[in-house]
Amino acid sequence: MSKVVIFNGSPRKNGYTTKLLEQVAKGAKSKGAEIIEFDLNDSGIRGCQGCFYCRTHDGCAVKDYLQPMYKAITEADAIVFGSPIYYYQITGQAKIWLDRTFPMVGDNFAPRHSGKKLITIFTQGSQNPEMGAEGIKFVNNMLAAYGWKLEDSILCCGTTNFHSEKLGRYDSNLEQFEELSLRAFKDGENLVR
Ligand SMILES: Cc1cc2nc3c(=O)[nH]c(=O)nc-3n(C[C@H](O)[C@H](O)[C@H](O)COP(=O)(O)O)c2cc1C
Repeated sequence: MSKVVIFNGSPRKNGYTTKLLEQVAKGAKSKGAEIIEFDLNDSGIRGCQGCFYCRTHDGCAVKDYLQPMYKAITEADAIVFGSPIYYYQITGQAKIWLDRTFPMVGDNFAPRHSGKKLITIFTQGSQNPEMGAEGIKFVNNMLAAYGWKLEDSILCCGTTNFHSEKLGRYDSNLEQFEELSLRAFKDGENLVR
C-alpha cells in the first residue's frame, strides 16, 4: 500500500491550505493510499536545537510531536507539504518543520531518503502570484534537494480581502478555488502508482 505523509503548516483548520491538502488526501485515499498527517501548528513541536545529532545519525535528538515523522518519511512513497504565505514566506510553524528536516541529508548534503514524490500547496491573500513566489521557490528547491520529485506545486492566490469592512473572503475566487481543489484531488490520485 502506498504511504502518503502530509504536513500542514496552516494554523487554520478550516482554511484554504487545509482544504486543498484534504483534497490531495482524498485523491490518494481513493486510490487506496494510507495517509499520515502532521499538524505543524501542534503545541508539542520544538524548533531545531542545532545539536548536529543529525550530522552523524539518520534521525533527530528532539523527542517531541514531530519525532514519529522521521520513520513516517522513511516509509513514505510521497510527501505533501502545505503552507499559507505569511510575510512573503511560509508560516513560522512551517519553517520550524523545515529546520527539523535537516536529517533528510547527510554528508555533503547527500539525500538520505530520496525518491519520494512531492506535492506542495501554498495559499496567499494577495491576487498577485509574485508575492509568494520567492518563498515558494525556496521551499520547493530545498525539498527537491532531498531528492524528492516535485509532481505539482499549487498556489492559490487572492484568498483574503483585508480591505473589506468585515474581514471577508474573495467570492470572485470561488471558481478558481474549485479548479484548484480538483487539481489537488487529481494530484493525490497521481501519487499512487
Ligand atoms: C501574519 C500574516 C501574514 C500574512 N502575509 C501575507 C503576505 O505576505 N502575502 C499575502 O498575499 N498574504 C498574506 N497573508 C494572508 C494569508 O496568506 C492568507 O489569508 C492565506 O490564504 C491563509 O491561509 P489559510 O486559509 O490556509 O489559513 C498573511 C496572513 C497573516 C495572518
